[in-house]
Amino acid sequence: MKVYFIGGGNMALSILNGLKDKNFIMADISIAEVDSKKRNEISELYKIKVSEKLLSIDSESVVILAVKPDQLSIVCSEIKELIKDQLIISIAAGTRIKEISKFLGSYNNVIRAMPNLCASIKKSVTPYFTNNPLSNSQVGMIENILGSTGICFSVDTEEKLDAVTALSGSGPAYIFYIIKSLINAGENLGLSREESQKLIQHTVVGAELFSRGLSDDGLESLITKVSSKGGTTEQAINVFKNRRINEIIEEAVTAAHKRSKEIGGD
Ligand SMILES: NC(=O)c1ccc[n+]([C@@H]2O[C@H](COP(=O)([O-])OP(=O)(O)OC[C@H]3O[C@@H](n4cnc5c(N)ncnc54)[C@H](OP(=O)(O)O)[C@@H]3O)[C@@H](O)[C@H]2O)c1
Repeated sequence: MKVYFIGGGNMALSILNGLKDKNFIMADISIAEVDSKKRNEISELYKIKVSEKLLSIDSESVVILAVKPDQLSIVCSEIKELIKDQLIISIAAGTRIKEISKFLGSYNNVIRAMPNLCASIKKSVTPYFTNNPLSNSQVGMIENILGSTGICFSVDTEEKLDAVTALSGSGPAYIFYIIKSLINAGENLGLSREESQKLIQHTVVGAELFSRGLSDDGLESLITKVSSKGGTTEQAINVFKNRRINEIIEEAVTAAHKRSKEIGGD
């Protein structure tokens, strides 16, 4: 299987690193990148074919559109004469499949995927969607590529990708915000930055592992377990409840969801 990237920016390089670490044959990968400095860096680092534009695309290969959403129409017009049976994967946020198909001259073999920042450390969760039925071998190709940066799975409607964008696409920033607030709170209590950082980072990782796979009830009983009557945790959780932190979180995610739909033209 040959893989072509259009755009050699952050996300393309995350996927490229994932493929390299999975021992993908690097000679089967090509990148089109407009920036000559980036082209030189990529070709030196990965020893793969890098050009300004793709001049041909092998049949039965995968093309990954890894440019910013506003660059998609140009990129699609550049490749539309080169494709006939290739699988096109767009990772561009927001732009709908019907729009990409139109840019490609009513081409149907299009998949949309939504990775997140954590792809660069192989911890992305990358849902994908397509309108077309996929063969087992196509699913295998898609999951090999997207799974190289973490985990991936298909969703059954394109609308769900807006929810994905609001939850896991933007999600790393939410968690960074909470981590930063907790570290600051520790400093305010007299801990050094380093001490507070170490405490919070390990607590976040430990709590995530502890809570993994639990139902809502399971999570609630974990909270109850840590919050002994009259104890310290109970005091903090009461503040969260009184200030309705759950509602603030829901409002924030809903705002991100609304914006994702607007960007998609809904
Ligand atoms: N980064 C993330 O965490 C993340 C998460 C989810 C989805 N995404 C999506 O992934 C896509 C890529 O994001 P990114 O962060 O990797 O962006 P990026 O770093 O800006 O990479 C895009 C690259 O494509 C190049 N390019 C522009 N027009 C081109 C053309 N006609 N032919 C070939 N190359 C071209 C750009 O060059 P110039 O800089 O010179 O224009 C740039 O190097 C975006 O659509 C974004 O929505 C990103």
